[in-house]
Formats: sequence, structure tokens, C-alpha cells
Amino acid sequence: MTIKEKLQARFQTEFGAEPAFIARAPGRVNLIGEHTDYNDGFVLPLAIDRAAWIALRPRVDSRVRVISLDMADEQVFDLADLPRPDAVRWIDYIIGVAWALRRGGYAPAGWEGVLAGDVPIGSGLSSSAALELAAARAFYCVSDFDWDATRMAQIGRAAENEWLGIQTGIMDQMISAAGVAGRALLIDCRSLECSPAPLPAETSVVILDTATRRGLVGSAYNERRAQCEAAARHFGIAALRDIDLATFAERATELEPLIRRRARHVISENERTLQAQDAMLADDAEALGRLMIASHTSLRDDFEVSSPALDAIVDCANADPGCYGARMTGAGFGGCAVALARAEAAADFARRVGAAYEAATGNKPVLYATHASAGASTIG
Ligand code: GLA
Repeated sequence: MTIKEKLQARFQTEFGAEPAFIARAPGRVNLIGEHTDYNDGFVLPLAIDRAAWIALRPRVDSRVRVISLDMADEQVFDLADLPRPDAVRWIDYIIGVAWALRRGGYAPAGWEGVLAGDVPIGSGLSSSAALELAAARAFYCVSDFDWDATRMAQIGRAAENEWLGIQTGIMDQMISAAGVAGRALLIDCRSLECSPAPLPAETSVVILDTATRRGLVGSAYNERRAQCEAAARHFGIAALRDIDLATFAERATELEPLIRRRARHVISENERTLQAQDAMLADDAEALGRLMIASHTSLRDDFEVSSPALDAIVDCANADPGCYGARMTGAGFGGCAVALARAEAAADFARRVGAAYEAATGNKPVLYATHASAGASTIG
């Protein structure tokens, strides 16, 4: 059974009817442009073919009642009196979206439904953003407001940053809201302008899940942000987006070595990301692959957000003849890497890299090709 069929079946048992709407919002994999979004920089992710789904119908009162198939749980809350979270439960993402909508001047209405998804949790593929955008889409289905992908991404981010207190940039929510089927998206994280970029011909994007999960990623993430802000402050600029590599090279020694390396990653990664867009527009898989490899080296050595497992799987992938380039993806410290592979060899590539990684680390990874999907949408 597909997720959609599972949702429909449970909806039927629970409510004795067909759902009025099915909302879905995808997870993402980032090709390049890592830890650049909160520096007002550039990112180049694609929405993947895994998503959070909600089958729903409107309610006449102001309540929201949700059954989560994956969590085997049911929660209900009232939009008129949103309960503040004390721990972060799955329902708090939906409550947070309701809170952010109301604060943004929207009037979200009540609904009831069933939630399920296939974005693995905690692996760096943005299951949280998928849930936030699926929730935003569910509210949109039953309320009286227009869907603006950028606004909805900002609502999702506000839910996560301000309601749940988890710091993130805007990348994950933007791509989940605005993804384009068959394309990656270059996102300018300052203007939030998006430009679709085609994947090189005869290539396949392969997700390499190390089967390790990130540990203290939150504190390390906040520390990196603070270090980037310190570097920007030193240069008297709003964000590291505002300095190019040449100017930075002239002034780099003004910074203490650790902050210098952090800044060098962000500034060079912004340039690589723009070059990656050019490589995609020129259908140059070799150039894109080289940029991905350089991105990983920079994340590993300068930004220090990789992990032994991520390095091992990236090394195995890069050593394979079917690979143009591989790198860690997302916040880091565990979770997934991403590879650009030759399309005709992608299945063999995944098999070989999986075996090599398992032999090197003892972990059994999960590798699969993914396809760029559309952002949040409604079915039916
Ligand atoms: C996480 C955050 C994003 C981004 C990446 C690193 O996925 O949610 O906003 O900062 O880390 O590129």
C-alpha cells in the first residue's frame, strides 16, 4: 500500500468518509551550499520523492485533531488556546504552524485528519520542514487564505525557531514549499528568490544514509552560527554573504584561526554554490561533482561538522568510478551524504558503496536514488 492508500484507509475507518483533501510536503536533499543559509547566502537543494502527508477534512469548531500513523498516537488541540510546548512532540510542529499563521495575520480554521510520512527522522533530510509545510498546507485547505510558497516557508521556519526554539535557517522550509519537479533550486537566502536548475543529463542523485544519527547537533549548530556572526561583525558587514573570497583572503589574518576557518568555509561555499548553478546550466556533471567534493573537504576541515561515518561513506563514494562527486548534506554530524552518480550505473554504484562502507565501518547503510519532486501541494 502507498502512503496515500494507508491514509485513505485509516481516514475511512476513523471518520467513515473519504478525506476532503490530501496535503503533502516533501523532505529535501541539499546538493551544495551548506551552512550558508543563515549567512544570507546561497543553497542548491532539491525536494525529494519522500514527504509528509495529511489526509483531512474541515471541522465546524476551532479544534485540530490529528492521528499520526507513524507515532501510533492521536492528539487534539484548540486553535483558540494553543498549548505551549514543554518537550518537542510531533504535534507541537503543527501547533507551532498554527501559532505562526495567527501571528502572521492569517485565520487558520479547524480540521481533523491522519498524518503519515516517509522522510526518515533525524537523518538530515528535513522531516521537520516537511511536517511544517504539510501542516501549513492542511490549514490552507480548510481556511480562507492564499498559498504563497515563500510566506509559508517563513511560517514553517517561525514555528520551528520561535515556537519550538530550534534554530534553523530558511533552506529546508523554502525547498519543501517551493520545490520544482525535475529541478534543483538555487535559493538566495537573503532575497528568497529561487531559480530552478536542471540536473546534468544522465546523472542520478543518490542519498547515502550512514545509519548514524546526529548527536549534539543543536549546540554545535548554534555555536557555528555565533562564530559566523562574529566574523561578519569583525568585517563590519551584515552577513558573510557580503564579502568575496578575494577580499577575505587579504584580511583573513585579522581573524583568530578558528573563526577564520569557519568564515572561509562559508565564503568559499557561497562561491562554489554559484559555480554549481553554472555547471548545472552548462550540463557539466564533472564540474558539479568536483564542487561537491570541495564542499565536503571544506565542511570537514574548516567548518568541522562532518563525522567519521560521513567521511567514510563520502570517501567510498568518491573512490567509485560511477561517481562524479559526493558530500555530506544537511547540518552534519551524522545522517546522510549525497552523491551525483552516472545514471546508468546508479544501482551498481549504490551496491558497491554500501558494501565498501559496511566493510570499513561495520554500519549497514541505506542507499537509494531520489528524484526531484514538486513542493507542498494538495491532492484531491
Ligand atoms: C539544517 C538547517 C538548515 C541549514 C542546514 C545546513 O538543515 O535546518 O537551515 O542551515 O542545516 O546547511
